[in-house]
Amino acid sequence: MSSVEPAGAFRLGDRLVRRLGYGAMRLSGPGIFGPPSDPKTAVAVLREAVSSGVNHIDTSDYYGPHITNQLIREALHPYPDDLVIVTKIGARRGEDASWLAASSPAELKQAVHDNLRNLSLDVVDVVNLRNMLGTEASIEPPLTALADLQRQGLVRHIGLSNVTPAQIAEGRRICKIVCVQNQYNVAYRHDDALIDCLAGDRIAYVPFFPLGGFTPLQSSTLSDVADSLGATPMQVALAWLLRRAPHILLIPGTSSLAHLRENLAAAELNVPDEVRHRLDGLTSQVAS
Ligand SMILES: NC(=O)c1ccc[n+]([C@@H]2O[C@H](COP(=O)([O-])OP(=O)(O)OC[C@H]3O[C@@H](n4cnc5c(N)ncnc54)[C@H](OP(=O)(O)O)[C@@H]3O)[C@@H](O)[C@H]2O)c1
Repeated sequence: MSSVEPAGAFRLGDRLVRRLGYGAMRLSGPGIFGPPSDPKTAVAVLREAVSSGVNHIDTSDYYGPHITNQLIREALHPYPDDLVIVTKIGARRGEDASWLAASSPAELKQAVHDNLRNLSLDVVDVVNLRNMLGTEASIEPPLTALADLQRQGLVRHIGLSNVTPAQIAEGRRICKIVCVQNQYNVAYRHDDALIDCLAGDRIAYVPFFPLGGFTPLQSSTLSDVADSLGATPMQVALAWLLRRAPHILLIPGTSSLAHLRENLAAAELNVPDEVRHRLDGLTSQVAS
């Protein structure tokens, strides 16, 4: 079993986490709604991630809803001391599996309590406020409500998700922000300048869809590079992110043990500079 230690570690809040973590969203059923067809494999994926050294798991109670958190509890509770579970609030699921905003103070409070109950925790390590209100919206009202829940001791640290630089600046005037979770991968690099900016403040950047999300990355350059390194395209995509900046924490998602092993082995993949520069040009060649 490979270990993620070679990927290194970075501080998330007051804890050091290994840079190769795991995103648990895919453990729910199709469309991230309802139970998975094979719950035993879901539990096995979580246990193998942790036994391989993963100590950063990303989740939300609106995955399933509730199902992903319940699987995490079943697989891992009582949790290892060094495990950091990061959740997100600000959305809810409609009965038709739609993703709806849920960012009133009452909804945010309910969401934190749902996470605590389904994960069997007294306090959540990190809660990301998932912005569902658009790029122009003020995040001040929901973030103020989340900061109140932090003051009540229910939340240790706060992060932001799906936000612009202006919204991050607004958020940092309200409370300490320890991480930003936005869409980013080797072929989708809208946040390049933001990533460089957050590095200076030692705020972790956690890209969602690191493998392309619902449209997994595909490109002949990625495949050629992977062949030349004796790796798979997904491993190269993850290794490129690890090389991109030391404050980037990875949370690739999978429901498969084989994919999990493949992804975690990216911790040991060396991407030489000339290969990295070739991949830097990928953004204009491929849609993610
Ligand atoms: N803040 C937000 O708004 C937000 C949004 C989306 C996601 N997230 C978080 O980010 C995490 C990562 O995002 P994600 O899971 O949506 O996308 P992702 O990690 O980019 O890709 C996951 C997809 O790639 C497939 N996959 C994984 N490893 C593979 C491999 N080695 N070879 C081929 N296919 C592979 C998975 O299918 P299999 O299951 O078949 O492996 C799944 O369909 C989520 O788990 C979630 O925690 C956050």
